[in-house]
Amino acid sequence: MKKISIRKPDDWHLHLREGIVLKNIIRFSSEYFGRAVIMPNTKDPITSIDKAISYRNSIFEFLPSNTKFNPLMTIYLTDNISKDEIKKGFIDNVFFAAKLYPANSTTNSNHGVKDIKNLYKVFELMENIGMPLLIHGEVNDPNVDIFDREEVFIDKELFPIIKNFPKLKIVLEHITTSHAVKFVEENNIGATITPHHLHINRNAMFFGGLNSDYYCLPVAKREINRVALIKAATSGRDCFFLGTDSAPHLREWKAFCGCAGIFNAPVALESYLKVFEEENALDKFEKFASLNGSNFHNLPPNEEYITFVQEPNKVAEFVEIYDAKKMIGKIKPFHSGQTLNWKVYN
Ligand code: DOR
Ligand code: ZN
Repeated sequence: MKKISIRKPDDWHLHLREGIVLKNIIRFSSEYFGRAVIMPNTKDPITSIDKAISYRNSIFEFLPSNTKFNPLMTIYLTDNISKDEIKKGFIDNVFFAAKLYPANSTTNSNHGVKDIKNLYKVFELMENIGMPLLIHGEVNDPNVDIFDREEVFIDKELFPIIKNFPKLKIVLEHITTSHAVKFVEENNIGATITPHHLHINRNAMFFGGLNSDYYCLPVAKREINRVALIKAATSGRDCFFLGTDSAPHLREWKAFCGCAGIFNAPVALESYLKVFEEENALDKFEKFASLNGSNFHNLPPNEEYITFVQEPNKVAEFVEIYDAKKMIGKIKPFHSGQTLNWKVYN
């Protein structure tokens, strides 16, 4: 039986939601990851220390006992976010990082930043205190084609940020283009790569009719970009690391309004493994999943290990969401109904 053991991975980009959904899905991450960076785009976004503490408490409340899972909280940047709040929250170890959503660029980003120049004083502070900036890298200009929004963001917004704040620790999240890969490699910043962007290109959304199961933001691009992402993730290069962007939406909402987001937490590691195996790069998987991210953030890697075995692994069609004993909805996981070929070994 083929096996592989690696240090326990971290998820550098995760949506946990709140309430019943949080309670039902947290175990998919807490069991397999040591730490996760928790996105702040809750319905009422995490814009203060108090909100972050209360959100973190609710996460702890729903964590299975005996877990060492560490949720790393983030603050949601707005045009008039308080610099004092950011500084205090970072120094007091409430905030691990700050998240920049250009306003209306994705799910729950309507309170996001309208003009990034308004944040330059905030970036200066973050650069001075060593606080990471996590970026949803897409312009929100409706005149820019949706498939070009990442590239335009990189050229028009990210490039000036890097020039003005060369020591600011930046992670360009969920990259989707060869342009982003090249930019990250050349500019001393980090990038996360999702499982879904390694598996699908934009055709997936249009196969067998409009299919919102594969709709996420940034949207998957042409095949040539997917290939560039695979090369980057499996290269072992220090600047690329794991961030699932697992983003659950109840089936009824996904089917009804086609909200952006793919729920990959139940199969994220197995999904990445499939790609690394196909690329003959299983030896690079630990770097991508468990070492590069912590190294980028100057944190020690996790001490525990996790083992995977090569065995057929049938993915459930749906994950059911229960409130007490009553099923209140379902969420379709990535690879729903497919059989993957790696399994966590218990
Ligand atoms: O597809 C996405 N879903 N992209 C994001 O940036 C947000 C996420 C969500 O919260 O559902
Ligand atoms: Zn996200």
